[in-house]
Amino acid sequence: MDQSNRHVVKHRGSVTPAMREALLGQRGQIFWLTGLSSSGKSTIAHAVEERLHAMGKLCYVFDGDNVRHGLCSDLGFLPEERTENMRRIAEMAKLFMDAGLVCMSAMISPLQADRERVRNIIGPERFHEIYIECPLEVCELRDPKGLYKLAREGKIKNYTGVSAPYEAPAAPALTIHTGNASLEECVDRLHAYVVSKVLPES
Ligand code: ADX
Repeated sequence: MDQSNRHVVKHRGSVTPAMREALLGQRGQIFWLTGLSSSGKSTIAHAVEERLHAMGKLCYVFDGDNVRHGLCSDLGFLPEERTENMRRIAEMAKLFMDAGLVCMSAMISPLQADRERVRNIIGPERFHEIYIECPLEVCELRDPKGLYKLAREGKIKNYTGVSAPYEAPAAPALTIHTGNASLEECVDRLHAYVVSKVLPES
């Protein structure tokens, strides 16, 4: 990259993030779900989004499978590409939080170092690491997209949990075990946590 952006100076409008939050009656925060493919991240995040929407809270889910069709369509699954994928979503979510939105990210985000980088980009007061825990065997049995099977057959390379690592969070804000809990129980737990952080008085 050339250095031409060295001379780009930030412009601050008179409407602040706090004013937007006050207008919306919510706080801009991000709930960063991490877990294996098929652990339930997207399903839980979208179900919580539905509940927040019904409460009149504006929310947006950054879903790995969706952003990889657009914003991140140039990225694959090599470690450096996953790092860049997460960096882009963190920067994007930061803008959404400035706009006052409640954000959730549903991406595998397999490496602790990358998640720490995201925490630094966003700032620790607005970042909540949520571990969606499910044993690999259960994820493989679920396999709704048939990708674990292809990975085991060697037809997909660098597949998380099979031929690429997954590092569980060391100290997540919340852990949700999806292996033998009902979807409703899992959604209840994340919803309660999110609500406790995003309502104005929280
Ligand atoms: S991340 O590791 O970079 O955070 P992300 O959540 O964006 O991953 O994308 C994961 C989704 O891409 C999986 O749910 C799966 O459907 C698909 N996928 C395709 N190839 C791979 C792979 N090699 N490893 C993991 N997921 C893959």
